[in-house]
Amino acid sequence: MAAGRMNHAMRRVTLTQFLIRRQHTGKINADLRLLIETVARACKAISTRVTKGALADGHGAAGMENVQGEAVQKLDMLSNEILLEANEWGGNLAALASEEMEMPHPIPTQFPKGEYLLLFDPLDGSSNIDVNISVGTIFSVLRCPKMADGSLCEPEESAFLQPGRAQVAAGFAVYGPTTVFALTVGDGAHGFTLDRETFTFVLTHPDIRIPADTAEFAINVSNQRRWEPPVKRYIDECLAGKDGPRGKDFNMRWVASMVADVFRVLSRGGIFMYPRDAKNTNGRLRLMYEANPMGFIVEQAGGAATDGRTRILDLQPTGLHQRVAVILGSKNEVELVTKYHR
Ligand code: AHG
Ligand code: MN
Ligand code: MN
Repeated sequence: MAAGRMNHAMRRVTLTQFLIRRQHTGKINADLRLLIETVARACKAISTRVTKGALADGHGAAGMENVQGEAVQKLDMLSNEILLEANEWGGNLAALASEEMEMPHPIPTQFPKGEYLLLFDPLDGSSNIDVNISVGTIFSVLRCPKMADGSLCEPEESAFLQPGRAQVAAGFAVYGPTTVFALTVGDGAHGFTLDRETFTFVLTHPDIRIPADTAEFAINVSNQRRWEPPVKRYIDECLAGKDGPRGKDFNMRWVASMVADVFRVLSRGGIFMYPRDAKNTNGRLRLMYEANPMGFIVEQAGGAATDGRTRILDLQPTGLHQRVAVILGSKNEVELVTKYHR
């Protein structure tokens, strides 16, 4: 080794190096690499805005509702704009879709089009913005179906309605005490931490594995009276602790930002649930840009994700903004809840 040069093994792997390695081994192509890098760059910009908090203009409610009838925060809109502007012109996308836009967003005519579809929840956990708790961004990448004549699809809603197992990449950013970017391109789940000095994502959590067993659950217990019997039974048994049928004590967490709850599950295991209930009859979370990308990354880390009956990634979507029940995390626990549903 030449004097003064860092040993290769000591050098930190950046997201760019990680992706180029995968391009060289044929796991991803140059377009997909650029797409993921662009999403990550947009997440850095969103992270910077989130960190400014009440000092920035973009704080507080936007004074409107989105297609789901939820109050939109200014930061929801801003994050959506940042992701659109970053991704529109790269030539790798056929169209985009977002939680904050009713219809798919076509690529403006002045820009070239590509073979991928990008879906995102620009800001997840928006109820936590004003109270200084972690929020994030979730994204999913699909291939655009080819038309009968071999040309790329038109950006209609139907092009996006592919089951989650068709995703070619997915991930999320958490804007917490540190900003982390979790990613899968189908060969495991990997986590990167934003180094604020070099403003690069550095591989800090390679080959994440979720332990199959856990003693920690995450659910919004305020919905308890409306849950279905299998979920009631599972949580009752957890709460009974050592004295109950599980024979061990459980702990509980609920951040109310899926990104933070799922990152905790990736980090140390756990089960995360937003089941269907008498009020949210199809669950609360969105299939296309919350459940599918999270289901993909959790499975890639050795965990499982179902809607209580069916594997999330096998569900055939019927609408861009459809909701779905979500049970994900440590495999043995997800299987137990799923068994209680059968
Ligand atoms: P979003 O802010 O994108 O609408 O998503 C919020 C989601 C999810 O992050 C979280 O798990 C859940 O909503 C929290 O719901 P409750 O407020 O019902 O607990
Ligand atoms: Mn969300
Ligand atoms: Mn959102």
